[in-house]
Amino acid sequence: MAQRTSLHGQWSSRLVFILAVTGSAVGLGNFWRFPYIAGENGGGAFVLVYLACVFAIALPIMIAEVLLGRRGRRNPITTMRVLGEEEAGQPGWRIVGILGICAGLLILSFYSVIAGWAFAYALKAASGAFVALDSRSVAALFHLHTRSWIVLGAWHTAFMVMTVAVVARGVERGLERAVQVIMPLLLVLILVLVGHAIHTGTFLRGAAFVLRPDFAALTPEGALIALGHAFFSLSLGMGVLMAYGAYLPQDTSIGGTTIIVALADTAIGLLAALAVFPIVFSHGINPAEGPGLAFETLPLAFSEMRAGVFTATVFFVLLTMAAWTAAIGLLEPAVAWLCETREMTRPRAAIGVGTVVWLVGFLTIFSFNLLQHLRFWRGTLYANLDYFAINILLPISGLAITLFAGWVMCDNSRVQELESPSGYRLWRFLTRFVAPVGVTLLLINAGAQLLRH
Ligand code: TRP
Repeated sequence: MAQRTSLHGQWSSRLVFILAVTGSAVGLGNFWRFPYIAGENGGGAFVLVYLACVFAIALPIMIAEVLLGRRGRRNPITTMRVLGEEEAGQPGWRIVGILGICAGLLILSFYSVIAGWAFAYALKAASGAFVALDSRSVAALFHLHTRSWIVLGAWHTAFMVMTVAVVARGVERGLERAVQVIMPLLLVLILVLVGHAIHTGTFLRGAAFVLRPDFAALTPEGALIALGHAFFSLSLGMGVLMAYGAYLPQDTSIGGTTIIVALADTAIGLLAALAVFPIVFSHGINPAEGPGLAFETLPLAFSEMRAGVFTATVFFVLLTMAAWTAAIGLLEPAVAWLCETREMTRPRAAIGVGTVVWLVGFLTIFSFNLLQHLRFWRGTLYANLDYFAINILLPISGLAITLFAGWVMCDNSRVQELESPSGYRLWRFLTRFVAPVGVTLLLINAGAQLLRH
């Protein structure tokens, strides 16, 4: 087979690819979900299960997704169509690409609302808005921000513009430059926060909450939470890795590179936990997850802290930056698809997709104000969108990707992409047997929850 080349250029180095994929992986999930679920489900015991899920299930799928992307060298839809045709004579596999892209855009629509909110809080924090608040005034601030769809909408707009601006500039001038600046900054900021947490006096308590293994608190349900989070945190199943894989030079090792990303993402989740919990505990506040942790619990803690203005600003800047590189990855696949198949220029495609996502984002915005009383199944419209995209669409598409890479693709094509023979066998075993079982369990669990309601 003559090798295809990407129409958008290539990553200029392996490091940039690692930064870009890590940038897509590290996001809101690392900061407000991982620390909390780890603490709630047995601390160190959970972390061990999480690592097992990452290496036995998520990493093989990640490798599969990058591999498919590099082999197809196109946007996820075209890649799945071409590979489906080549490997099995079935272009219908393109459905997997379509599903991934749509789900990714859906995720981006609410992701951007929350990220815009973090952006707003970064400026609020810097201006000293969190000084000397009590829990009532923090809640009031939260309310003030979410009550107005115009305020939430304005910040959502700002964040979408930031994201579209990067993707519009293309792989080398947009994506690469952004991750090269943001990712090192992110690392510095998080180390600053951890450094600060070490001085709170409750560092050990915070660390123990996330790290001390409590096997009694670890339930089968906790294990499924770990698996689901591994999926979300590593950005699997939405075509992001496939799109990024399409720009990966042929001689770069996929296995070695993805392992680094998986480790980096987990390390940042742990660092986030070490930064957040000591701050929470030093003020005697109960830990929480989700928007509540970032926008209520932490501001309260910051307001009581000596270097509160500084720490709060660093935290929210960090959150915004992390969400930004994740959002860039969520937008890229659809933009690549429009450029390749509709012959649009990048700026037009980015603005077009960005506008659609921006509009859909208002469903999430209204869930906090105009439509806050509209409740069904999991809660507000936002809660439902979030649950549907993350717990149902993500595993479905992940399952399809593993089955394709593990069972449909022929050995020859896979070996061409993955060099090391022993690593290859292990990967094939995990992709064929372990990953599909794990993902199926996730789906069964989500289905059971659906029925229970
Ligand atoms: N991984 C990101 C986080 O932890 C979220 C994210 C970015 C994502 N791109 C994705 C999730 C693609 C699923 C699919 O916050």
